[in-house]
Amino acid sequence: MNARADAVASGTAATVAAHAAAASTTVSRAEPEGAAIPTTYGASDRPPRGDYATARSDYVCDQNWSSYTPAQHDRYRRLYADRIAHLPGLACDEFLDALAAMEAADAIPDLAKISVPLKAATGWTLVAVPGLIPEDAFFALLAARRFPVTVWLREEDEFDYIVEPDIFHDFFGHVPLLFNPMFADYMQAFGQGGLKAASLGGLEYLARLYWYTVEFGLIDTPQGLRIYGAGIVSSGSEPGHALQATEPARVAFDLERLMRSEYKIDTFQATYFVIDSFAQLFEATAPDFGPIYRRVREQSSHPAGVVLPGEKIFAI
Ligand code: PHE
Ligand code: CO
Repeated sequence: MNARADAVASGTAATVAAHAAAASTTVSRAEPEGAAIPTTYGASDRPPRGDYATARSDYVCDQNWSSYTPAQHDRYRRLYADRIAHLPGLACDEFLDALAAMEAADAIPDLAKISVPLKAATGWTLVAVPGLIPEDAFFALLAARRFPVTVWLREEDEFDYIVEPDIFHDFFGHVPLLFNPMFADYMQAFGQGGLKAASLGGLEYLARLYWYTVEFGLIDTPQGLRIYGAGIVSSGSEPGHALQATEPARVAFDLERLMRSEYKIDTFQATYFVIDSFAQLFEATAPDFGPIYRRVREQSSHPAGVVLPGEKIFAI
């Protein structure tokens, strides 16, 4: 089992984190026809995978649904079946119910078709993108309630392990909760917050927030702890680790504590933050982050996995 697979497959958090770590968002090879290829990518020097030539300046491209091959549809179907088998009793009902309602188990979804019920439910639309996109483009799409989904599907030898978000991670992991009104509002607010975070020196802290909520978040429910983070649900093996292993620290959500917490990109998480509702998440992140970023910047960061004195830890 390669744990890195599961963690790094966490999609857009990789974008946010990668760009937050970079001094600035640099783009190279400005092409008059298409979007520039983002060059700041993760801890790697590789350019992101994907065809950026046909993308427009906002990085949106056509999905070209009819060009997926039968083998790709079949691989997606097997990924879906494999991952969903790990989730009963572990993923939250909001995720599982919305996933089932999309009826997207059998073939790679047509993003325009799924956007119809999604738009009716929460006003969000899915848009196709060539792959990882620069953070400013990413935040602008979220702020406009447009969720970017990578068009390409992983190869067969990446079934358990993939280093960049593909359509399976982006769709299966992220889209179900966009049907939840409170979470949908949180994602838009995140985009708006992202657009102003750079000038406040807050990108690193905002990336941690994305990582520990959108990608790796847990929620406390009357039935027990459940997963809502996209990076966990789209992994075959992290669900068990997140909810059943004794090692990780499961800490009650606290915005400043979270922003001071480093995270792992190459193993399962050592710390998970637990919200008690999506309303709590939305309300706790509504205040202006300007003063919060300033406070956090003046304090030291906590390594992943530490438990602070007096901190509430959730039992499993
Ligand atoms: N309140 C944040 C700010 O002022 C915006 C935000 C909301 C960021 C929700 C992330 C999530 O920057
Ligand atoms: Co993701």
